[in-house]
Amino acid sequence: MNSPTAAIVARDVRKRFGAVEALRGFDLEVAPGEIVGLLGPNGSGKTTFIRSVAGLLRVDGGVERVLGRSPREAVAAGLVGYMTQTPALYQELSVQENLAFFAALRDVAGTAAAIDEALRVVGLAERRRSPVATLSGGMRQRVSLAVALLGRPPLLLLDEPTVGVDPALRREFWAFFRELAGQRTAVLVSSHVMDEAERCDRLALIRAGRVIAEGSAARIRERAGAADLEEAFLRLSESVA
Ligand SMILES: Nc1ncnc2c1ncn2[C@@H]1O[C@H](COP(=O)(O)OP(=O)(O)O)[C@@H](O)[C@H]1O
Ligand SMILES: [Mg+2]
Repeated sequence: MNSPTAAIVARDVRKRFGAVEALRGFDLEVAPGEIVGLLGPNGSGKTTFIRSVAGLLRVDGGVERVLGRSPREAVAAGLVGYMTQTPALYQELSVQENLAFFAALRDVAGTAAAIDEALRVVGLAERRRSPVATLSGGMRQRVSLAVALLGRPPLLLLDEPTVGVDPALRREFWAFFRELAGQRTAVLVSSHVMDEAERCDRLALIRAGRVIAEGSAARIRERAGAADLEEAFLRLSESVA
């Protein structure tokens, strides 16, 4: 899978924040139509990697290509939807106004139709005039997801999208990610919850700024000789420590 049309190609990516090496030679590829999970503890570098793919930080070394372009070019071309770990919404603005703001920022074509579609998909069409401050936590997560979906970008970056989401909505989100993947959208989703990992096509286990194992959940368990992913993670962590 080394084609120029890979959704993400990252090779030996490095990023340092002062004394902290957040990414220490990070390698990953994601193909169109694939759901890849970044799985690792807090502080392991998931958000840093996602932000680099979203063109929001300059890496210190390595190569990153997003749909055959640099991350910034891909973002500027509207190819990347990003759901941040903490919802970056304007509380006083309505759902619709938030979407309109981000659509303008991202230069999304056919804004009104794109907003309608995103709202329909996350089931919030009836709350479009509600100020975000008046929504429940789950609804806010849906608005954040709707922002990422504006214009149906071929790459979705979802940073812990189901944190604080109830089980029913979580299942709905995953069904929806699967549907998008079926339409060739590439989905990179981070999580520190091991049980979500089973839903990904492929996992990258992250520890201290590096991918320490890659493959389906079943394959990783098998390779580590572990009953569950948590145990596999611990065993694999020890073997690279
Ligand atoms: N802007 C920043 N300035 C300084 N340190 C940062 C910054 N962003 C992340 N870090 C550090 O980089 C490491 C990786 O963080 P992060 O990518 O947020 O991990 P994760 O998303 O896996 O929890 C952590 O040690 C974190 O404190
Ligand atoms: Mg994070």
